[in-house]
Amino acid sequence: MNTVPVRPSVAFGICLKKIEGNALVEAVKVGLLGLGTVGGGTVNVLKRNAEEISRRAGRGIQVTHAAARDLNKPRICDTDGITLTTDPMSVVNDPDIQIVIELIGGDGLAKDLVMAAIEQGKHVVTANKALIAKHGNEIFAAAQKKNVMVAFEAAVAGGIPIIKAIREGLAGNKIQWLAGIINGTGNFILTEMRDKGRDFDDVLKEAQELGYAEADPTFDVEGIDAAHKLTILASIAFGIPLQFDAAYTEGITKITREDVNYAEELGYRIKHLGVSRCTEKGVELRVHPTLIPERRLLANVDGVMNAVLVNGDAVGPTLYYGAGAGDEPTASAVVADLVDMVRVLTSDPENRVPHLAFQPDALSDIPILPMAEVTTAYYLRMQADDRPGVLADVTRILGDAGISIEAIIQKEPLPDSDNANIIMLTHRVEEQQMDKAIASIEALPAIHNKLTRIRVESLDAD
Ligand code: HSE
Repeated sequence: MNTVPVRPSVAFGICLKKIEGNALVEAVKVGLLGLGTVGGGTVNVLKRNAEEISRRAGRGIQVTHAAARDLNKPRICDTDGITLTTDPMSVVNDPDIQIVIELIGGDGLAKDLVMAAIEQGKHVVTANKALIAKHGNEIFAAAQKKNVMVAFEAAVAGGIPIIKAIREGLAGNKIQWLAGIINGTGNFILTEMRDKGRDFDDVLKEAQELGYAEADPTFDVEGIDAAHKLTILASIAFGIPLQFDAAYTEGITKITREDVNYAEELGYRIKHLGVSRCTEKGVELRVHPTLIPERRLLANVDGVMNAVLVNGDAVGPTLYYGAGAGDEPTASAVVADLVDMVRVLTSDPENRVPHLAFQPDALSDIPILPMAEVTTAYYLRMQADDRPGVLADVTRILGDAGISIEAIIQKEPLPDSDNANIIMLTHRVEEQQMDKAIASIEALPAIHNKLTRIRVESLDAD
């Protein structure tokens, strides 16, 4: 066996000496804005792993100042040695602070603080997906002008290093598409509903108590949070400016247990997916409930876990899985950004990894595709009179629209109803064709209520 004979004690001794040497170099002073779940987790991880972190970064990293809204609130971290204030701008303005960590959230005060930090030549680490998705273009332009770094690994998929994986690890690929479960709260709700038959509101309340949900939980269940994250992923995957306003967003509030069960009968699971695909016509940018084949790994990502599947032309499909929310998983990403930053503090700005993976003057103007022009397969459920000819009318409409049916199930009317449930899977068709067909089916006198329509993705490699 070919090994290099290194006595562990000696190797470790050399490392320690190096650190002892480095200890003479002053620790990088960091100001923390926000001492909630992620802020507390960040302080804890930085303290607990201080030695490992400084061995990696080459210098110590010390939170010297922190701002919180309420200084008397119980905290998950020990704030000894940290100067606390309720005024976050005073932390940004403190001349000793070299790196500002923004964990306040939202895009009001947080944006002012980040822009002020950049203006003063300070580097910024943020977990704020809304801020980056909505104002990232402006923030990165300002950062470039001031030669500072803005890092945002924690903004997408919590502890999964997905930004680094796409921006650096897959840099040799033409990325074709990506699809992910990127909201832990929504995935937790869908999983608990499916596995335990729990009520939507009850599971959401638990997610809030566990600190997973957004301050406004409609961001989780309506797909806004996932659309923020998908906007960021699409930009770094395809080299396009951030375009959150063009994202299509549909929530999970209308998913019923019936649909979950019928999907299972057909061999699928319903997941709240963010999908972005680079097509010849434009980039798809969409978040919606999606049926995915149950044999796919992504279909088996449960609870608060996140996963992102990225398909590159050279590497093929790659899957990244981990905790998408929570104090220490998110802190793991925040601290990784800090370490990256400290390593390159003195490097030439031109040699740093570009914020959006591609050089700022090399972004593409390929448009975001309107949802009407997106092509997917569909799951349809309708309630219909249980009499001859109804199914024939429905299939005629689909046939006339050029929509091919892959599977049909008809369920007996429930005891308290005369209506049969008809469930269909279709082959792929452009959304505007399906919209027209659905409108015609809903106009049939034998069809009751609006059709339930859930998009289906096979997630094949091509
Ligand atoms: N509310 C988010 C989620 C937190 O549930 O995934 C992490 O971004």
